This record gives sequence, C-alpha cells and structure tokens, in this order.
Amino acid sequence: VSDMLIDSFGRKHDYLRISLTERCNLRCQYCMPAEGVELTPSPQLLTHREIIRLGNLFVSSGVEKIRLTGGEPTVRKDIQDICLDLSSLKGLKTLAITTNGITLARKLPVLKQCGVTNLNISLDTLVPSKFEFMTRRKGQHKVIESINAAIDLGYNPVKVNCVVMRGFNDDEMCDFVDLTREKPINVRFIEFMPFDGNVWNFKKLVPYAEMLDIVTKKFPTLKRLHDHRTETAKNFQIDGHAGTVSFVTSMTEHFCAGCNRLRLLADGNLKVCLFGPSEVSLRDPLRSGAGDDELREIIAAAVKRKKAAHAGMFDIAKTANRPMIHIGMNVKNY
Ligand code: GTP
Ligand code: 5AD
Ligand code: SF4
Repeated sequence: VSDMLIDSFGRKHDYLRISLTERCNLRCQYCMPAEGVELTPSPQLLTHREIIRLGNLFVSSGVEKIRLTGGEPTVRKDIQDICLDLSSLKGLKTLAITTNGITLARKLPVLKQCGVTNLNISLDTLVPSKFEFMTRRKGQHKVIESINAAIDLGYNPVKVNCVVMRGFNDDEMCDFVDLTREKPINVRFIEFMPFDGNVWNFKKLVPYAEMLDIVTKKFPTLKRLHDHRTETAKNFQIDGHAGTVSFVTSMTEHFCAGCNRLRLLADGNLKVCLFGPSEVSLRDPLRSGAGDDELREIIAAAVKRKKAAHAGMFDIAKTANRPMIHIGMNVKNY
C-alpha cells in the first residue's frame, strides 16, 4: 500500500467499493422513496474507461479488493466488460459484487468467467409477500434462484445480507439460520441504519446483543469464529452446519478502527467514509486532463482528511448524507 492510501491514523486502505450506477430494479423502503431518487445525468457518470483508469490507479497503489455496488450493479449493461478489465489488474486479489440478485442467476456464468470471485446477495425476508412490501416489486423467487445458482457455480460462501428490522423480519431470523444447515452460505444479519429518505427509524433497529440472544436461544451451540481485523462482521457457526452466521454491527459497535475502505461513487466522487458527508470529485480532474500523479495527490489528500471514527449512532442519525442508493451500500452500499 503506497502512502496515498494510508490515513493520518495509520489505516491502510486496500479495499475499494465502486458504485456502477445509481439505478435499481427494486425500490426497497429502507433505501429510497417509492418514486425513486433523482438520478445524476448519464454524461456525468463515470464511463467504463474512466472506471478502469481509476481502478488501475488504486490497484497499483495497493488496493487488493474491489467490490462493485450500485444502485444495483447488474443493471449496468457493460458490467461484464468492466469486470473483465478490473479482474486483470495486476495485484487485485478479490473482485466482489453486492447485488439484490434479481437478474443475477442469468448473468452469473458470464460474470464468473469475467473474474468475479465473491458474491454478497441481499435478501431480507423468506416470505414473498413481505418481500413485495419491502422492495415494492415482485421477484423474491429470482433472488433465491440466484443464491442457488451462485452455490452451484462454486461460490463459497455466498454471503446473504439480511437487514433486520423490528416488526418486519426479526421473527424470521431463525429461519434464515436454518438455511445454513445444508447450504454453504454466510447469513449476515445487519443492524438497520438510518439514512436520508428512508422511512424506517430507530425503533426499528434490533441491536446486535438482542439478535444474538434470539439466535442463541434456538441454536445453543452457536460459536464465535475468528474475524479478520478489517471485517465488518462478527462471525459464528452452529455445530454441524455447512454455512455460517454473522452480525454486522454498524450501529451498536462500530468498526471504524479497522476500516480499510474507500468508495468511488457512480458520478466519480471519492468518499472516504460511509457516514461522512465529505466527497471529492475524481471525474472532474480526470476529464480536464489530469495525469496520474495529480490524481494521486487528490486521492492522498482526501484519505489524509479521513476522521478516526463516526461518533456513534446519534451522530449518524444527524448527518446529512445522500440516500443509500447513491452511496452504494448496494448502494444499496453504505
Ligand atoms: P465484505 O466485503 O464481504 O466484508 O462485505 P461488506 O460487508 O463490506 O459489504 P456489503 O456490500 O455486503 O454490505 C453489507 C453491510 O456492511 C452493509 O449493510 C453495511 O451495514 C455494512 N458496511 C459496508 N461497508 C461499510 C462501512 O464502510 N462502514 C460501516 N459502518 N458499515 C459498512
Ligand atoms: N441499513 C443497513 N443496511 C442497509 N442496506 C441498504 N440500506 C441499509 C440500511 N438502511 C444494505 C443492503 C445491502 C447492503 C449493501 O447494504 O441490504 O445488502
Ligand atoms: Fe433495494 Fe438495494 Fe435497490 Fe436500494 S439499491 S432499492 S436497497 S435493491
């Protein structure tokens, strides 16, 4: 990792999340309003070539993992070409996608050939009618098909992202855990986070401690596994189960100290922290002819401004931020 990617607290940033689009084929309530969000005009979005140019700059400076997010990354028509070019960057070890799984089953064989090594698929409920309520669209069976297609193609583990919301799906946690008995999946229960324009609120947050309690009551052999230092998840396994269970505790136990992430948004803005409002455009200098050294300086300066931590959940709730769809938690990206 070159100095460019080391912040003033010594954190090395070797993980870049790239949002490929702000568009999405679902309308999840926790992510955006029913009418969708205002989209950046397409001439202002990074092109395939620009993504590769910036990707190359980051990978040659020490990034080893790229995750493609959105909106929904698979709605971008040239995703496979982007994957092919990114996966051939020397030094890149992991090329991952976070997707809602709606169209993935069909595209997956090609994406695998284009070098996609890891998949996180979002699924918040096992009940089709609840899926329709939450996403304001049909298609839960397609998500399940995509999870199965990913398993069949050898992705192991397939991560299944489940945002837990009180009164919506907290009663389904043990059903999700049951899936890990036979399937090589990693079910990840995510604490719900408030963002601009999402209709949920703090009362919907089910804290990690409570989630752990719910699962342990039904599965007393739940055991803690090792977590990687930079991981956002706390990992567990139940005796005899093929898969694993994790908790992503962004709200009650943040993991900023080990943060190794940067985000490149679809409009070419670099965001050094999911929760911070500060962004710097890489697209503008790139389009006005900046060389690699100039771009490196801009990136290094932004990384050096990164804060030690977000100040906890009350701080997050107050922060003016973009709607999730713009940041690419799948962004859906934080
Ligand atoms: P891995 O790379 O497989 O570890 O996935 P990930 O958890 O980083 O990414 P994913 O896109 O699957 O996001 C799942 C959840 O992780 C999101 O709902 C967020 O809650 C959380 N998350 C991702 N990135 C960040 C981050 O930078 N900060 C915080 N606080 N949470 C994050
Ligand atoms: N809180 C927590 N997770 C969220 N995601 C989207 N919005 C939120 C939120 N408000 C998740 C998506 C996806 C991941 C990238 O982010 O479900 O799995
Ligand atoms: Fe749902 Fe993700 Fe699409 Fe937002 S971006 S509507 S969370 S699938």
